[in-house]
Amino acid sequence: MKQSGQILLGVSGGIAAYKAAELARLLVKNGWSVIPSMTRTATEFMGTLTLASITEHEVHIDVGDHSPMDHIRTVRSSDLLLVAPATAHTIAKFAHGQADDFLSAAYLAHKGPSLICPSMNTAMWHHPATQRNLSMLRDDGVLICPPDSGELACGEWGDGRLAEAETILEYVAYSLSPKHPTLQGKKVVVSAGPTCEDLDPVRFLSNRSTGLMGFAIARALWCAGAEVVLVSGPTHLRVPAGVQMVKVRSAAEMAEAVHGHRNGAASVIMNAAVADYRPAYHPHKLKKDSFNGVLALNRTEDILATLGKDKNGCLLIGFAAETEDGIVNGRKKLIHKNCDGVVVNRVGIAGQGFESDTNQGTLIWRDGREIPLPMASKQDFANLLVTEIGDFMHDLAGIPNRDMAQ
Ligand SMILES: Cc1cc2nc3c(=O)[nH]c(=O)nc-3n(C[C@H](O)[C@H](O)[C@H](O)COP(=O)(O)O)c2cc1C
Repeated sequence: MKQSGQILLGVSGGIAAYKAAELARLLVKNGWSVIPSMTRTATEFMGTLTLASITEHEVHIDVGDHSPMDHIRTVRSSDLLLVAPATAHTIAKFAHGQADDFLSAAYLAHKGPSLICPSMNTAMWHHPATQRNLSMLRDDGVLICPPDSGELACGEWGDGRLAEAETILEYVAYSLSPKHPTLQGKKVVVSAGPTCEDLDPVRFLSNRSTGLMGFAIARALWCAGAEVVLVSGPTHLRVPAGVQMVKVRSAAEMAEAVHGHRNGAASVIMNAAVADYRPAYHPHKLKKDSFNGVLALNRTEDILATLGKDKNGCLLIGFAAETEDGIVNGRKKLIHKNCDGVVVNRVGIAGQGFESDTNQGTLIWRDGREIPLPMASKQDFANLLVTEIGDFMHDLAGIPNRDMAQ
C-alpha cells in the first residue's frame, strides 16, 4: 500500500467542508504531501487559512490563482485527486466535464486515479440525477467512497453523511494499491478476533485477541483486489472499508459462519482465536452460594481441522499463537490440520501477538519454506503476508506473468 506521495485534496461547498481539515491533518500525518483546492462556495463554509496551515500549501480556488498553468502542473505531480466532501453540484460538474474553477479543471486534466467522497442531504443523494451522475463517474473510472447513514446536519436521518476520515484513508490506500493478479476478484474468507463462550447471562470465557491482525489482513486483501468476507468475534474495531462483515460471538457461531461462506472461496485465512472449550450455559446468573467452583468444559469444533478435511481447492492458512517452540508447533499444526500455510507468531511478549499494534512471525508453507515476517505494524505485516499468499497461489496456478496490475 502506497503511503506517501502527493494528493490533490478538493473541498466543495457542503456542510461537511469543515471535516476536510481533519482529513487533511490525517493525510499529512500519514506522510502525504497535500495540495488543497476549495470551490468558491467551500470558502464560505471554511476559510482557506485552515487548510493552508495544515497542509503548508496555498489553497487553489480559481484557475490561474497562483500561476497560469497551476491546474496542469499540480495534477502532473499528484498521485491521487481526492474530493471530500463532494457536493451534488461538484459531482454533476465532474460528470458533465464542466471546468469553471481550479478543482473541476484539475479533475479533467488529471490522468491518475480520482476518489470522490459525496456528502449531502439524503433526498439529494437518492435523487436519480445524482445517482445518474455518480454512475457516469464510475463508468469514467472514478472510485466513489459511499456516504454513511445517520443523522444529517439538516436534521433528517438517512444516507448522505460524509464517510469517516479513517474510512476515506482506507479508500485512498485502495485507490493507490497495486492489485495482485492472483487475488484480484477472488473471494477470501478471513476469521478474526476472539470468541466468547457464555457461562450465564453475565459472564463468559474468552481470550486476549483484539481482532487487529485479522482486520488488517482483511484490509490488505481488499486493497489487493480480493472480495473479502470477514468473520469476526466481538471486537471494538471499526468495520474495514470494502469488506463483507459477519459478526459472531461464540466458536459455534464462528464455525457456522465460516462454513457458510467458504463456498467458492479461493482461500480461507483462520486468524481468529477460537475457544477450544465452552462451558455449559446457565440461563440464570450463577450465584456464589450455589456454585461449587468447578466448570465443566466441552470441546468446541476445531474449525481449521474441519476445513482441512475437505479443502476442495481452497488455500487454507492457519495461525499458531505460541509461547515456545513456535516453528516446531507450527509445523505440527500445518500437518495435522492439512493447512497449506501456517503463520507462527509469539504471544506473551510485548510488541507482538495479542493486544499489540505490531507483530512478528514466520510463515511456514507446506513445501517446507519458511518466510520470515519481520517486526512491523500489523498492517504492514498483513500487507506482506497477503503478497506472500497471492504469490503462493500464483505459483500453484502456474501463471507465467507475475507483474502487479493496477
Ligand atoms: C448551509 C448549506 C449547506 C449545504 N450543504 C450541502 C451539502 O452538504 N451537500 C451538497 O451537495 N450541497 C450542499 N449545499 C448546496 C451547495 O452549497 C450548492 O449546491 C453549491 O452550489 C455547491 O457548490 P460547489 O459544488 O461548487 O462547492 C449547501 C448549501 C447551504 C447554503
